Amino acid sequence: MLEPSTTAEPRLEFVKLPSAAAEHAFSDDVRAGLSAASKTLPSKYLYDDLGSSLFEAITHLPEYYLTGAETEILREWGWEIVRMLAGSIELLELGSGSAIKTRLLIEEALRVQPTLRYSPIDISFDALRASSTALVERYEKLHVRAYAGDYFSVLASRELRFERPVLALLMGSNIGNYAPDEARALVELVGSALRPGDGLLVGTDRKKDRATLERAYDDPTGVTAAFDKNLLGRINRELGGTFDLKAFDHVAHYDEARGCVDSFLRSRFAHRVRIEALDLEVTFEPGERIHTESSYKFDDRDIERLAVAGGFRVAKAWYDAGHRFALHLLER
Ligand code: AVJ
Repeated sequence: MLEPSTTAEPRLEFVKLPSAAAEHAFSDDVRAGLSAASKTLPSKYLYDDLGSSLFEAITHLPEYYLTGAETEILREWGWEIVRMLAGSIELLELGSGSAIKTRLLIEEALRVQPTLRYSPIDISFDALRASSTALVERYEKLHVRAYAGDYFSVLASRELRFERPVLALLMGSNIGNYAPDEARALVELVGSALRPGDGLLVGTDRKKDRATLERAYDDPTGVTAAFDKNLLGRINRELGGTFDLKAFDHVAHYDEARGCVDSFLRSRFAHRVRIEALDLEVTFEPGERIHTESSYKFDDRDIERLAVAGGFRVAKAWYDAGHRFALHLLER
C-alpha cells in the first residue's frame, strides 16, 4: 500500500514541466515534417499512450530480441553494475517506459543500501504513472521522483536534484533513435547534469546481419507496423487528420553504411490527406515514404567515440551470451 500523504517525505512525486511549448511542438513538427521534400516525422511522437502500449507489446515479440538480451545481461550482471560507483547510489532513468528491466537494478541496489531514490524520465505520462505507482507499492524502501517530458527538456530544466552518486540509465537502445550528432549532444547533456564519479549506463543493440535486424523491426505479427502507423492515427486524433492507415505499408530497411535500421510508412497509391488543425493538405505519390524512425546499431568503437565526445570514459562493458546487445558503463 502507498503511505498516507501525511508522511513528511512522499515516496512518489511527479514533476510535470510546463507543457505549453510541448503542445505546439507536435503540430509544428508535423507541419515541417510533412511539408519537407523528403517526408519525415520525429520518432518521439510514436509514444503517446497507445504508442507506449504498442511498444510494450513489441518487447514481448520473439523477433524483437533486444529486450530479452538486455534483461539477460541485467539478470547476470546487475549485482556488479550497482557496485561500480562508490558507496550508496541513486538512479536516474531516461526513457523508463514500463521500468520492468529497471526492477532488476533496483532490487540489486536495495540489497546493498537501505533506501534508494529513482528518478525516471518518460515522454508518456501514462507509462510513467503506471510504472512509478507499481514501483513504490512493490518496494518499501524506494522513493520515486518522476519527470514527464522529453529527455532534453527535463535535463535542461535544472529540475533534477541529486543527493547521492548517480547511476544514470539510458537503456533499451533508446540512444539508437538519435542521429550521431544528437546522440553526442544527449550524452554531453547528461554529463552536464552529472558530477564526477557519477555513471551513465548505456544499452545498445549491436551491429549484426541484416535479416535479424530487419525482422526485429518488421515482425510477422504486425505489431511494429501498428506501432508505426499509430503515428498517423495520433495525427488524426490530435490534429484532425484524415489519414487512412490502410493506405500505408510499414517498411524497415537496414542501411549498413550508417549502421541504422530506418523505418518508413510507404504510401500504397497516390492520394491526399488533410490535416484540419494545420489547415494543411499533404499529397502522396505511389510508393512515397515518410521516414518515422532511425534505430542505430553500435559496436564497441562507436560507444568509445560517443563516450569520449560526451566527456565520459568507458569503465566496463557487459554482453548477453549471443553478443546481440551490450551495456556500457560510462564514467565522468
Ligand atoms: C525503444 C527506440 C529502442 O528503436 O529499437 C522498436 C523502438 N521501434 N521497434 C528501437 C522500436 C520499432 C526502439 N527503441
